[in-house]
Amino acid sequence: ATTLGASAAAKNRYFGAAIAAGKLGDSTYSRILTTEFNSVTAENEMKWDATEPSQGRFTYTNGDRILNQGTSMGAKVRGHALLWHQQQPGWAQSLSGSALRNAAINHVTQVATHYKGKIYAWDVVNEAFADGGSGARRDSNLQRTGNDWIEAAFRAARAADPAAKLCYNDYNTDGVNAKSTGVYNMVRDFKSRGVPIDCVGFQSHLGTGIPSDYQANLQRFADLGVDVQITELDVAQGSNQANIYATVTNACLAVSRCTGITVWGIRDSDSWRTGENPLLFDNSGNKKAAYTSVLNAL
Ligand code: XIL
Repeated sequence: ATTLGASAAAKNRYFGAAIAAGKLGDSTYSRILTTEFNSVTAENEMKWDATEPSQGRFTYTNGDRILNQGTSMGAKVRGHALLWHQQQPGWAQSLSGSALRNAAINHVTQVATHYKGKIYAWDVVNEAFADGGSGARRDSNLQRTGNDWIEAAFRAARAADPAAKLCYNDYNTDGVNAKSTGVYNMVRDFKSRGVPIDCVGFQSHLGTGIPSDYQANLQRFADLGVDVQITELDVAQGSNQANIYATVTNACLAVSRCTGITVWGIRDSDSWRTGENPLLFDNSGNKKAAYTSVLNAL
């Protein structure tokens, strides 16, 4: 096939992009989006600050624009993200204890209910593990409501939208290391206790290298009985960019439970990593060597 999405589909995978509602009117952007991708993720529009700017008042206008864009393309829509320590509305940042716990679970229930039946996979919890060698949870206002906040969120999401795959999503979990092993142990525990979890997202915000055990790490999670997905792929521009993109693509194809890859933006100029040129299309929308590398790998 001649596009990322069609080539991935031939391998029973999807190839997606994070998109921004405010860019959908850009003709180059929307041409590449509709031609190349068969999954979309809201870059910001479904986050807590965007969907519940004041407590109990939900705004879905921009999130719905992302959903409708994906639906009109026949694409999968990944939901990102129900709970995260970042991009919380100010009112939530100032809560703690049971007031925060109740607000967080209500947020999960309300947003997952609004999008019920329309989301392929939700990032229910994002980035809850600490960096470094501890393998422990990250300290956050949510973590301080009790260690069971993650399972409570997954149970609420399952109750609200039984059809959506429920994912845990994180970064720097792209190889076998203390952080990814912390996540691994949580997923193993959830599976053993019947806490609903269906998938693990590996953000894969990569620099100029990739862990040699990238595929092995995906496989060890898959072996726990969850799907795995590459959820926010971008790779610093350098001599190795095209090779690293191919390595990620080949790893996903080699792991039968790796269901798809999402890049975190379309053109380099759309990237949150300003100046790193980490994406598949240049600022003018031309295909880069990294694009060809991915397409050839698929
Ligand atoms: C980023 C967006 O790309 C930016 O536009 C925003 O200002 C900050 O968040 N991990 C995640 C994503 O899970 O939600 C983040 O997205 C990038 C890091």
